[in-house]
Amino acid sequence: MLKLQIIIGSTRSGRNADAVLRWLIPVAQSCGAFEVETLDLRDWPLPFFEETMATVGDFNNPTYSSPLVKRWNNKIKEADAYVMVTPEYNHALPGVLKNAIDTVFCSFGFRHKPVAFVAYSIGVAAGVRAAESLNQIMLETEAIPVRTQTLIPFVTSAFDAEGKASNPALDIGLTIMLDDLAWLAKALKLARVGGELLPATIRSRMATARK
Ligand SMILES: Cc1cc2nc3c(=O)[nH]c(=O)nc-3n(C[C@H](O)[C@H](O)[C@H](O)COP(=O)(O)O)c2cc1C
Repeated sequence: MLKLQIIIGSTRSGRNADAVLRWLIPVAQSCGAFEVETLDLRDWPLPFFEETMATVGDFNNPTYSSPLVKRWNNKIKEADAYVMVTPEYNHALPGVLKNAIDTVFCSFGFRHKPVAFVAYSIGVAAGVRAAESLNQIMLETEAIPVRTQTLIPFVTSAFDAEGKASNPALDIGLTIMLDDLAWLAKALKLARVGGELLPATIRSRMATARK
């Protein structure tokens, strides 16, 4: 079974993320493609990013600046696919989520794995600018962003008392996104098993050292 990690990008109390998760998690669990784990950044109080080559230490068994940073890198490495649940803060993703992504440092944990975005906001914007920021950011981690995004406008009225989506188009969109994610996750897992090139940054350093 493919391992899916759902990463929650809001940590503030009273967050609307919880209404989104109440809807999203059962759909992801029942789609049949994934073993689902939720990574709540509230449970991962990562320090503000402070890694350097010195804190990483031994590249093959990095120490990092703290055991929690090491555990976070190892945790991210476990997955075959990711869903990032993000609100829009000032036309971008929350800083806590960006910090968690940056903290995956020198372990290349996201590399060659697909990532999909569920974005939301209280207004009409639906978190689209957070999702678009994430598209660009995650490409740099060498994750493969799924084209289909789940965008939720007016999040405070998007779900009924049972947690069901008020607009059926949301269910359809989420199912399509998860299908695309599963297809890519399977294909990329096979490709990784077949062998991977070293990351370009490492190959570049090696080539420079040979000169
Ligand atoms: C710091 C901050 C900045 C925000 N900026 C935007 C924004 O740029 N666009 C938008 O549509 N909503 C914005 N909002 C409203 C959020 O979309 C809304 O509060 C959402 O529920 C936040 O998710 P959360 O409750 O899970 O943290 C902002 C909210 C906060 C707290």
